[in-house]
Amino acid sequence: MRADLVVVGSGLFGATIAQRAAEELGVHVVVVERRDHAGGNAYSYRDPDTGIEVHRYGSHIFHTSNEQVWAYANRFTAFNGYRHHVYANHAGEVYPLPINLGTINQFFRTALGPEAARGLIAEHAAEITGEPANLEQKAISLIGRPLYEAFIRGYTAKQWQTDPTELDAAIITRLPVRLSYNNRYFSDRYEGIPTSGYGAWIERMLDHPRIELRLGEDFLADDGPLRRDACVGRAPVVYTGAVDRFFDYRCGALTWRTLDFETLVLPTGDHQGTAVINYPDADVPYTRVHEFHHYHPERSHSDDATVIMREYSRMATADDEPYYPVGTPTDRERLARYRQLTAELEAQRVAFGGRLGSYRYLDMDRTIAAALECFEQVVRPWFRQ
Ligand code: FDA
Repeated sequence: MRADLVVVGSGLFGATIAQRAAEELGVHVVVVERRDHAGGNAYSYRDPDTGIEVHRYGSHIFHTSNEQVWAYANRFTAFNGYRHHVYANHAGEVYPLPINLGTINQFFRTALGPEAARGLIAEHAAEITGEPANLEQKAISLIGRPLYEAFIRGYTAKQWQTDPTELDAAIITRLPVRLSYNNRYFSDRYEGIPTSGYGAWIERMLDHPRIELRLGEDFLADDGPLRRDACVGRAPVVYTGAVDRFFDYRCGALTWRTLDFETLVLPTGDHQGTAVINYPDADVPYTRVHEFHHYHPERSHSDDATVIMREYSRMATADDEPYYPVGTPTDRERLARYRQLTAELEAQRVAFGGRLGSYRYLDMDRTIAAALECFEQVVRPWFRQ
């Protein structure tokens, strides 16, 4: 098998590197993916029973203000006109999010204008006078106790499985409160869902005669022609898997939160009337419910079936899919040591990238932007004679 470049992982970072290298440099790229599908965590597929596009690893909405990324993505897919809105079900009532004038007036049963609402929140927030000692105090200092207890406390406790009084204040730096009725979730210039789904989009990126996609192969397995020990030092490698696993956890494991998803097909055309409803109350075990057909208003779907997904959050064990980096002081110290190890591998033409390789939460547009930059700064020079 000819491999001028090995790309580990077929998420948006790996797919972008592979596509650019095959097209721009004319090299043969082998993409090694341990799952049975390409696309990484953004992957979606059409559910065979209902025809509804399901986001297997949680809701993904593409949004960007980066012109280069938008133009690049549009080479491989069209986007529909979906605009994201999120609601919260608290104490049996549904409120718009992020917290805005509509949320405030509904919650306090009033009809305040922006300035009066600002004053009310400042009055509630004044309860905290000194430096906030934990996440709860920090949140109250930003939005006051009533809104914190309704929309933040239970949700945060479920996300972290820890009482917010025991969480570090630094986890939140701001809590957006909009003093208008605007409840568009994202404010980027471009937003939408790929019309054929994320799986089809990323497959199209990889559909090139010089790209070979090898599914179901783990680069870090003990055997196989494309394992780490057979490749490093022989062919250049772009690795988008977990950085600590690459080095066999020699500086310790980095901590992640994971998600459990419960997917259900319900016998109704529409279960909740929107794509995402948050459940901030402590007595509901899940954090969010997603209903996927709402992401494709341009597609018709059956009146008697809908796919919903309940999302549960917890700390990841070694066997779980990592979703969100936790970033404790120990994690930061370990990451610095892993970065030294990755720097030492540069001379052997090994680059690390993507959310797992850099231990960073990255939205899809930032992932593509980082991959385009990695291609120009690192991969292209590897092949310059
Ligand atoms: P990604 O994880 O997608 O891909 C890495 C790939 O490498 C995986 O396919 C994995 O199987 C493979 N791999 C790992 N180790 C391997 C090994 N040893 N051998 C072979 N293969 C290996 N962003 C956004 O813009 N809008 C949104 O709405 C959302 N929503 C969202 C929801 C949730 C719950 C999460 C956790 C994240 C989002 N995101 C998001 C972020 C989005 O998921 C993220 O930007 C991309 O997945 C990043 O792509 P990567 O290629 O970096 O990683």
